[in-house]
Amino acid sequence: PDSWLTRREGTVYAEEVPLAVVAGAIGTPFYAYSALALRSNYAALEQVLSPLGVSICFAVKANSNVNVLAEFAALGCGMDIVSGGEMARALAAGTPPGRIIFSGVGKTRPEITAALRAGLHQINVESAAELEAVAAAARDLGLRAPVVLRVNPDVDAKTHAKITTARRDSKFGIAATDVPGLYAAGATRPELEMLGLAVHIGSQVLDLAPFRQAWAALAQMVRGLRAAGHSVARLDLGGGLGIGDADHPGPDLVGYARAIRETVGDLDLALTVEPGRWLCGRAGALVTEVVYLKPGAHGDLAIVDAAMNDLMRPALYEARHPVLTLHPPRGAVDAQPCRLVGPICESSDDFGSYQGLGRLAPADLLAFTHAGAYGATMSSTYNSRDLIPEVLVMGERFRVIRARAGIETALRLETPGAWQSIGEG
Ligand code: LLP
Repeated sequence: PDSWLTRREGTVYAEEVPLAVVAGAIGTPFYAYSALALRSNYAALEQVLSPLGVSICFAVKANSNVNVLAEFAALGCGMDIVSGGEMARALAAGTPPGRIIFSGVGKTRPEITAALRAGLHQINVESAAELEAVAAAARDLGLRAPVVLRVNPDVDAKTHAKITTARRDSKFGIAATDVPGLYAAGATRPELEMLGLAVHIGSQVLDLAPFRQAWAALAQMVRGLRAAGHSVARLDLGGGLGIGDADHPGPDLVGYARAIRETVGDLDLALTVEPGRWLCGRAGALVTEVVYLKPGAHGDLAIVDAAMNDLMRPALYEARHPVLTLHPPRGAVDAQPCRLVGPICESSDDFGSYQGLGRLAPADLLAFTHAGAYGATMSSTYNSRDLIPEVLVMGERFRVIRARAGIETALRLETPGAWQSIGEG
């Protein structure tokens, strides 16, 4: 999956394109994605899941560039969305509405209405209040809403606390004890079609045991609902499959598929997974240039031109993204770790210390790898830095798939509107 990045003749190629050539053409920093890696990730997952009849919906939040979505849509991949904006992107990428799942804890009434109008596959409802909103929207449209209830199974995904989503105190899902009552209530409503259950325990999950625990709990609930006379046709197993690195091998796909088969495989359910990171995380890199070097208290600091606004994961989750130098490392590579920091006026604008980079110099190019998921999608314009370009590589060619917006565009949106008086009512 990382094999799209190779070091050859002293430089790093993305597929057949030297990343330094892209940097020369469009400047740094930028995100580069490999079409080949996106496709082969999907193919690998499909290969283990299709024998089980499990369909795949890409979690759009991980990488929502419409060109990336189009790569997956062309392979028959569905989409898991969490907003009206993501719905528009999934549809623009050519995803059939019947392959789109609407997740999220705070869908607004206009978003629900738009989803029902578009004819999405299902709405994953996370509370009694949201079920009411979906019912009301469906009634107004004269439609029947396809509903699945997202359960909070009280499972610890054993990942970073900020991306754990299924412990009892989490804001996500419906407490297991409330599910039977709500499912039964929904089943009495003509405007709701109660189709099944969903779960999502967290992200970057490297251990399969929490998945098994959650899915086994869901299987138990499905049996209970059926015993009470309800029809349960679908089970959405969520995303969360983590990607490994040199220190932690990722979970193997065969084991993942086996966990599905052994926990929920015998229930005659239409099964879905919603992976984001696994499909695109390793297929992207953030390319940056060293601006300055300066001595720090514990070794050198390299100030690079990418920052926390471009890749927020280190600042937010202490995440580490393995770094490649685009030149052959100089000097003793293991001599001293080098701390890579960005130009933003915050101490958390720090990518961490990296060993093995050799002696760096201004104008050196570096690539943060495993940056294809939750990189560009979480970026901001903090410090009035522009959103950076995204590039898709395919074989010996590359193309820009998101242009720089430019500060002019930002300033134009800040043109003041007319003063509005609050009026007399
Ligand atoms: N399904 C639901 C309902 C989700 O909330 C998520 C992610 C996924 C699927 C996809 O999870 P994945 O397969 O990508 O792990 N910004 C964080 C990750 C947040 C994940 C939020 N929900 C990060 O950069 O690590």
